[in-house]
Amino acid sequence: MQAQERQFQDFELERYQSLHEHTVQFNLADSSVKCVGTREWLDAGEQEDLLNTGLFYPQVNGTQLLRTRIAALYPGASADSVLVTVGAAQANAMVCSALLSQGDELVVVSPGYRQVWGLALNAGCVVKEAPRDPDQHWRLDLDQLESLISPRTRLVSIVNPNNPTGSILSEVEVDRIVAACARVGAWLHADEVYASTEVADGVRARSFWGRYDRLICVNSLSKAYGLSGLRVGWLVSAPAMIEALWRRHEYAVIAAAAPSMTLAAIALQPEKSAWLIERQRRMSRAGRALLRSWIEASSGLVSVAPSAATCLGFVRYDLPINSYDVAERIREQASVLVAPGSYLGAEGHLRITVGYDEVKVSAALDRIGSTLRSLRRSG
Ligand SMILES: Cc1ncc(COP(=O)(O)O)c(C=O)c1O
Repeated sequence: MQAQERQFQDFELERYQSLHEHTVQFNLADSSVKCVGTREWLDAGEQEDLLNTGLFYPQVNGTQLLRTRIAALYPGASADSVLVTVGAAQANAMVCSALLSQGDELVVVSPGYRQVWGLALNAGCVVKEAPRDPDQHWRLDLDQLESLISPRTRLVSIVNPNNPTGSILSEVEVDRIVAACARVGAWLHADEVYASTEVADGVRARSFWGRYDRLICVNSLSKAYGLSGLRVGWLVSAPAMIEALWRRHEYAVIAAAAPSMTLAAIALQPEKSAWLIERQRRMSRAGRALLRSWIEASSGLVSVAPSAATCLGFVRYDLPINSYDVAERIREQASVLVAPGSYLGAEGHLRITVGYDEVKVSAALDRIGSTLRSLRRSG
């Protein structure tokens, strides 16, 4: 039988970035801090480890050393609970591939990173969106979320801390989400790539790990560790689910890259990971201070809700123009790339990443400000 043609849902945010990020002077549309250069974080012995990496196909589910180091981050997990992927992006795609079929229902959160949303639409699923409230510092409306979860729900997908708002779920909220999934036996997908990007000292987002048996946790080295170019991520779940995900992984990519896995294992050594995470948080804090000053000086043209994590500002602008048009004007007039809020599920906003060199971030924010003021004058 001929498969029915379905309109393909582009991954709009990633499409916009891949089209334009290499042609602008300042790219503030990404979501990690400025990534660390290879020479900057490897000592002579580690550089030697990299050069000694063989270039035959590596272990398909991830090297034993790397899976062991990842498992150590999840109490009670073993190397058999882990599958190494090409970034969290591939991990999320494997979750959809293993769990979703045409007609299945799932619940996602909006605004959010719309990968699972788009993959599910393309698979012919019914996607329900639980809203975050812009007037309540983007708090997730848990009553709404609970009302969307029913015996028909196959999957609930949560990103914590959230992209783009930087909100963190409280312990109580985490427990309520788990309880709602457990009531109907839904799978819970927890994308935790922004864990360890919390800004305040001593504040940590609670992982979903260990709270539920039908749980798949995803993370990567892209955000907290500032190593997005390695393209290393992972899935952690019960070994039987890992087997099912691994079968999809063989079709999709066979394995993550061997040199990347060597470097990933180095990054996850305790001292090295502490250094990388501290570097990321330093850049993020400095960028947030610049963003705050810029907003304060804007006379109400832009505003941002306080957020607890990430190097992202989800900036609201006071103009009656849609976010794609505003982003395009900023790109064309100022040669700065920012992400339109509509691509994350919230009009009237721009997502601006501030964890880069301070001089560059300042210059780019000035340019964005000039463009917004010119739009206000002409509007
Ligand atoms: C919530 C979320 N999940 C996954 C990804 C993909 O990350 P990775 O670089 O690990 O593939 C991103 C990237 O922006 C993200 O924001």
